[in-house]
Amino acid sequence: MVSEFILAIDQGTTSSRAIIFSRDGEIKASAQREFDQHFPADGWVEHDPQQIWEVTSAVCRDCLAQLPKGQQVAGIGITNQRETTLVWDKSSGEPIYPAIVWQDRRTAQQCRKLAQQGHEALVRDRTGLLLDPYFSATKLAWILDKVEGARDRASRGELAFGTIDTWLIWKFTGGKVHATDATNAARTLLFNIHTQRWDEDLLKLFDIPEGILPDVYDCAADFGEAQEGLDGRTLPIAGVAGDQHAAMIGQACFEPGMIKSTYGTGCFALLHTGQKAQMSDNRLLTTLAYRLNGEVHYALEGSIFIAGAAVQWLRDKLGIIQQASETEALAASLDSNRGVYLVPAFTGLGAPHWRPDARAVICGLTRDSGRAEIARAALEAVCYQTHDLLEAMAKDTQQTLTSLRVDGGMIANNWLLQTLADITGMTAERPAITETTALGAARLAGLQLGLFSSLEDIAQNWTLEAKAEPAIEPELKADMIKGWQRAVERSLLDAE
Ligand code: G3P
Repeated sequence: MVSEFILAIDQGTTSSRAIIFSRDGEIKASAQREFDQHFPADGWVEHDPQQIWEVTSAVCRDCLAQLPKGQQVAGIGITNQRETTLVWDKSSGEPIYPAIVWQDRRTAQQCRKLAQQGHEALVRDRTGLLLDPYFSATKLAWILDKVEGARDRASRGELAFGTIDTWLIWKFTGGKVHATDATNAARTLLFNIHTQRWDEDLLKLFDIPEGILPDVYDCAADFGEAQEGLDGRTLPIAGVAGDQHAAMIGQACFEPGMIKSTYGTGCFALLHTGQKAQMSDNRLLTTLAYRLNGEVHYALEGSIFIAGAAVQWLRDKLGIIQQASETEALAASLDSNRGVYLVPAFTGLGAPHWRPDARAVICGLTRDSGRAEIARAALEAVCYQTHDLLEAMAKDTQQTLTSLRVDGGMIANNWLLQTLADITGMTAERPAITETTALGAARLAGLQLGLFSSLEDIAQNWTLEAKAEPAIEPELKADMIKGWQRAVERSLLDAE
């Protein structure tokens, strides 16, 4: 009998996780390891690709070892931090430079230059994205320009580019498969979301040789056999999607108008817009929800760079908490925010501002302010930013949006769930399984391997665990949002 277990890999920005799910979403085994973050210069963020491979394959082995004797896994689903850019040598498999992480701002000037030269319209039309250092193309060009001999090696076809999914597929298959899925490709600034092909004009614009690029498959497809790093086991890689797209699957957002918002390192809200690529007039991104059987479903995306990372900052840099979970009681200990706001623009501001040069501010402090005010401000910031994204989505689609499916580590916090509902004015729904990113990857692999017959079949497995309805006084909400907007202006004051 075919096993009904799937090994899902969630390669995130700060840790790699592996979870074995049963068909009904039960977690049978899990393992997680953090890895090093490197900040070599202001605004730069790098990862070591070899370390990512080591921790990722290690969590898979840990997980597989937890399965009772005789139980098998049918295949692997991979989901990953998106946009993070790697280049390696095809014959040795050695990376030629560290992975440049999505948060890295080193190419801000290059993006500004291209925008000033009037290229933004082309980029937007073809990719649905903006000229921002967040995406892969300028990072890839930077590596090719700065690493000695890289351009020559690339033109001789010796180098491979990939986002993290592509790197993991390459490593697992022992260098046999150089591939990505359409959702990850759609985040590179090089992929035409309408034709579903690498775009020649964009390759020219960013000076990228086509031979360096991976093949692009559907999210549920045959990505090859994983035979390395699994203690001698061989398993098919059957599902791949960027983490936010996998969360759309895990949250069963399969109908136009459905929204999910994931609170991890950053926060990413995606609104399903059906088979139409809806362009934004409010500086949101147009992206893929998913691509299955060659059929593309699109989404509008709002991307916030810092959400959970702000709580990490409270813990690791300010030292005012020891564990992220303490923020719930701290925030709830106050009857109001006491006029304190934190704009966590540590790596600039994402949607809808797109200001890589903005920097974080805390304002409204008095002699009375302490850790509770700052912790509450960090949590409220997540809600205000979500509000800004949803408002932009409502304007773009001319729809009244009423409910939001939320997930990610932060959302276990009930105070945050309620405040999200209050500030966004929408019902915030938390599913029984909040590991929706990994779950989505497992579902995709399950589709490919025949464990699910359709998306409807998957949707039947989604269950609600908790929900919060808006309950705040409208005047209070308006005041809070006004305070937030003033704080955002301040974060832009010192920007270039
Ligand atoms: O676009 C970046 C995003 O994919 C990173 O997600 O979960 O690592 O914050 P996460």
